[in-house]
Amino acid sequence: MLEIETDPQRDEVTVRQKYWGPRLSSSAAREAAALPAGSATPSGARRHVTSFSQPAEIEELLPVDGGLRWGVPALQVSVDGIRSLELRFVSADAYPENGSDRLDITLQDRVFPVEVVLSMRVFADSDAIERWATVRHHGGSDATVEITRLDSGSWFIPDAADYHYRAVFGAWAEENQLQRGRLPVGELVFTSRQGITGHHANPWIMIDDGSADERYGEVWSVALAWSGSWRMTTTRRPEGGVAVTAGFGHDGVRWNLPPNSEICSPAVLGVYSAAGTGGVSRAWHRHVRRHVLPAADRDRPVLFNSWEATGFTVTEATQLKLARRAAAMGVELFVIDDGWFGKRDDDRSSLGDWRPHALRLPNGLSDLFDDIRALGLKVGLWVEPEGVSPDSDLYRAHPDWVLNLSHRRRDYKRHQLVLNFARHDVRDWAFEWLDKLVTELSLDYLKWDMNRPFTQAGWPEQEQAQDRVWIEHTRNVYSVLQQLRTRHPHLQIEGCAAGGGRLDLGILRYTDQVWPSDNTDPVDRQTAQHGFSHIYPASVMSAWVTDSPNANVGRHTPLRYRFHVAMAGVLGIGGDLATWSPAELEEAGTLIAQYKTVRRTIQHGSQYRLGGRPGALPSAVQYVLNDQVVVLVYNPHGNVKSGPRWLRLTALDHNATYEVTTGGDTGDCVPGRLANGSRWHGSTLMAVGIRPAAWEPIGEDYRSDLIVLQKLPD
Ligand code: GLA
Repeated sequence: MLEIETDPQRDEVTVRQKYWGPRLSSSAAREAAALPAGSATPSGARRHVTSFSQPAEIEELLPVDGGLRWGVPALQVSVDGIRSLELRFVSADAYPENGSDRLDITLQDRVFPVEVVLSMRVFADSDAIERWATVRHHGGSDATVEITRLDSGSWFIPDAADYHYRAVFGAWAEENQLQRGRLPVGELVFTSRQGITGHHANPWIMIDDGSADERYGEVWSVALAWSGSWRMTTTRRPEGGVAVTAGFGHDGVRWNLPPNSEICSPAVLGVYSAAGTGGVSRAWHRHVRRHVLPAADRDRPVLFNSWEATGFTVTEATQLKLARRAAAMGVELFVIDDGWFGKRDDDRSSLGDWRPHALRLPNGLSDLFDDIRALGLKVGLWVEPEGVSPDSDLYRAHPDWVLNLSHRRRDYKRHQLVLNFARHDVRDWAFEWLDKLVTELSLDYLKWDMNRPFTQAGWPEQEQAQDRVWIEHTRNVYSVLQQLRTRHPHLQIEGCAAGGGRLDLGILRYTDQVWPSDNTDPVDRQTAQHGFSHIYPASVMSAWVTDSPNANVGRHTPLRYRFHVAMAGVLGIGGDLATWSPAELEEAGTLIAQYKTVRRTIQHGSQYRLGGRPGALPSAVQYVLNDQVVVLVYNPHGNVKSGPRWLRLTALDHNATYEVTTGGDTGDCVPGRLANGSRWHGSTLMAVGIRPAAWEPIGEDYRSDLIVLQKLPD
């Protein structure tokens, strides 16, 4: 609910968020609309406004740099060097748009040729509110309009006695680590200056009054749909009041707006739930499935990826051997990772030369893929379209195609540079070779990687407009992805950036799933998957079973545990199958077959984190879709005495009967242990719970279970 207030004396308008919380009936909404805004006192005066302070802008939808404000500006514009906007109201237009209700509020500077449109959408089938902003230079003068900050929108969190936050931090091979704490008075900034979303942070936050937990309590959450540099600033004012403002770009990035042009921000979304962090996560998952993903309803195939098995040594013989074993295990899609192109024998060369490796694949890929297809597998390839090796024919031919600054070094990272996708010739080149590759090889799948964050990022030919690369690069990556999807509707695309360096609601508009981390150790994965699941659904979380000891961390874990962790998302296999024993191959086949019986529920159902400490202590996660209930139970430390022992299921039908179909204990009738075929009341499973064998403190390390229950008809 909004409030548009005009001040006739100052000829200025303020657009405030008046209400954000549980859905109200229309009569309650009318009643609430008549009340003063959240921070207004009954006399109408705003939040602690005195002669000495002016914190009221905390409630504005897009507080500008200008007027009586000194909070975080969500919009900062200079016109001919004057850095201040004074906006007046022009119009408010509401209309239906693709199953949503949209509202555009148009504002205009009193003097300068600058127009600002605040747009928002609400959905009948989702709890998310989507917002964005457009800034126009409407011409009539050749005034120079320079933007130094354009957020998509600021969100005011309703008054509470205290505020706590949840967010994730990370690093390469350690993404999506949940952090939580009390929101400090001041400004808390999460940002990426890398031209990609980044491993170190992710553009979302959850805020509550300190009392919310996984199941209970009110939570307000904000997430930005953008895959380049970004900034999310949460302000807690000393006078009270919290707001989150988020947008693309980072500090210092400038954008000139020529006459008769506009810039439109990406979307920022807000979700409220009264059902704790679990409730807000499920609301995000629902929204991502219904309104973000391009092909949400598709079941994600069980894939094999060659990276950990063969590294750069991709040959017909190595890949075919793996493919035969993968097919026999029930894998559905075979993806050849890095190393198939140019003269790429390590990470020092060939990015940009996207033709099969002449020495290792002398016959190209067509015949190899035909052979793999003949095994009943679909086929896919790894690509890194934005990357270029200085040792490549492409770079030798087009040294000007990379992000660079005149008179500055071109530092390498992973021995590579970044192509400037903001350039239309680069964008078109990328689409052309990708389209040809997908067409000629009839590819079913692409893994689109991006291993090199931006540094020294400029576009010398653009002189004063070089910072455009920070925004247009990402937009053109989106546009190539979209063109590929339009041209090849069956194609599935996996996003990747050195693991989980580009995971966000922006890239998920164009990809089917993302690679969350190069760390495939199942214990480390559990904490990463836990953080991941706070916003993103299981259907976008690629998870491979790899070898033991793990290539990244050296830990030994049983195959079953590795499988059960990977089953919590989109199961894939990444181990060197050539070295797996017949017994391991057989066990893997059984587990893949089991996954296929539950993947619809895991990928498309509602997810409940059942507590515990994933990766550290006993934990479990539950998924429900229609009549199927899937529970994955983990215990990394066999000898943990402190419990819990009993696991209470959730979100079942109290009055229904559930039959254990998989994973039940077959033998000894321990109370609470579920025998296969046994039947239980929903209320028993929820009120009393089950006693997972894996949680008993008497076993080996790394024990896990997959338990499946079927709700019986009345
Ligand atoms: C990145 C990816 C890996 C793999 C390698 C290949 O690190 O995250 O999965 O594709 O690149 O070089």
